[in-house]
Amino acid sequence: MTRLRCDRAPAWAALQTAFDTHGRTIDLREAFAADPQRFGRFSQQAPYVFGDLSKNLVDEATAQMLLDLAEQCGVAAHRDAMFAGAAINNTEQRAVWHVLLRTPADAPSASALEAQELAKVHSTLDAMLAYAEQVRADDAITDIVNIGIGGSDLGPQMAVLALQAFAHPGKRFHFVSNVDGHELASTLARLQPAHTLFLIASKTFTTIETMTNAASAKGWFTAHGGSDIARHFAALTTNVAAAKDFGIDTTFGFWDWVGGRYSLWSAIGLPIAMAIGADGFREFLAGAHAMDAHFRDTPLATNLPVRMGLLDVWYRNFHRFSSRSVAPYHSALRRLPAYLQQLEMESNGKRVDASGAALPFGTSPVPWGESGTNGQHAYFQMLHQGTDVVPVEFVAVKKARHTLQGHHDLLLANVLAQAQALMQGKADSGGHKHFPGNRPSTMLVLDDLTPAALGALIALQEHRVFVSGALWGINSFDQWGVELGKVLAKDIAPRMRSGDASGLDASTAGLLAMLREG
Ligand code: F6P
Repeated sequence: MTRLRCDRAPAWAALQTAFDTHGRTIDLREAFAADPQRFGRFSQQAPYVFGDLSKNLVDEATAQMLLDLAEQCGVAAHRDAMFAGAAINNTEQRAVWHVLLRTPADAPSASALEAQELAKVHSTLDAMLAYAEQVRADDAITDIVNIGIGGSDLGPQMAVLALQAFAHPGKRFHFVSNVDGHELASTLARLQPAHTLFLIASKTFTTIETMTNAASAKGWFTAHGGSDIARHFAALTTNVAAAKDFGIDTTFGFWDWVGGRYSLWSAIGLPIAMAIGADGFREFLAGAHAMDAHFRDTPLATNLPVRMGLLDVWYRNFHRFSSRSVAPYHSALRRLPAYLQQLEMESNGKRVDASGAALPFGTSPVPWGESGTNGQHAYFQMLHQGTDVVPVEFVAVKKARHTLQGHHDLLLANVLAQAQALMQGKADSGGHKHFPGNRPSTMLVLDDLTPAALGALIALQEHRVFVSGALWGINSFDQWGVELGKVLAKDIAPRMRSGDASGLDASTAGLLAMLREG
């Protein structure tokens, strides 16, 4: 079955009619009163993650129409094409095969190519994990500095922080991404060459920010008496030749079918492996693999990433909600919103479909947020009483990994209360104290923030983004929108030194002059 863009499917028109007649006005309080089974009906257990979707603005009929939409658009066939290694990244003619990175070595392969790629995945994984263990056992290395940006930073940084309870106590991890020298300089100020390992993480090994930071780190290393580059620098890249030219011998590779924002499962995940060890990293992969199996093998109606992706489309295209607030009620997940911003917006922030035709509807919502309860004391005011409705995605973790009395119960009481308050609201004639309620939220629940559970949570997010992208008919796996700024920066960089403003618009020329002063 070929893909059909969502707006061309019969279910799209049916959904529009449903939305116009009663979908717009569904009242969650009435829905719960009318259906004592609603919690069970609209929740879904998936590997390591329970999703309560019952506080979302859908009824049974809408949920069924959304499933019809998924059927009619060929979401399952597109998913299967991804799992089979088809070149679904059509603008770059590349497979999108990050699921292979977490496929066990002994899993049956559907093709000779898959078997061949899987063998490469596992030989690199074994080598990378052996290296991770070697560094973990090396007491002289106390500081590991990951230099990378975008997918070569956000995933590893988020995961190392999330799994801090499992991390090697003798290693400090630093993440330098920004070309802003303040970032690298303040990190280097705390380091000693003899005790530092730099990981230069870049899929392409051409990204200007990373190359600039890597060159400065190398300069600092030699200027401060460091001599053994082979021991203190390693590269994580698909461009082994460029890493060699840079002077790095220890390189862990990956392949062009791993997208940058899907690369934390590859060699780019080396800092994670160094933090939590080889066994921990294998558990992380296994958790993601369990979610992959759920996504691949479970009927659409009971498939958590599918149900979440369908809600995303319902909200974006019918309710016209343009953002989603992510509220992890676990401080170790505080980089999750930043990670999700790249995952969702670089994947689905597209205005044309896969054939290049302009889309007549909106795509990527903006995921944003902070860890709970901090967000409550900052922007939750707007979520409860603002003019715009913003669906909230809470993440709650049952088990605490500290022993401080009372904290965790209070944290969990808060996450429940916020979801309840958004839905229930509170009538008040005064206006200022009135809470309209009926504001939607999803609650994702993990038993424990283990490597496996984090792997499953991230894979769930990858797949829900896949589902909405599939329905929108877009290529979720390229990112041409980041190119223009890179080209212009290359043109402007020498002008910072020369002051040459020829050919620039008046604003850019004026600002260039101003920024060069002093
Ligand atoms: O600028 C966008 C981007 O290409 C991302 O997709 C990617 O994750 C990031 O840059 C870093 O790229 P690289 O790993 O090749 O340095």
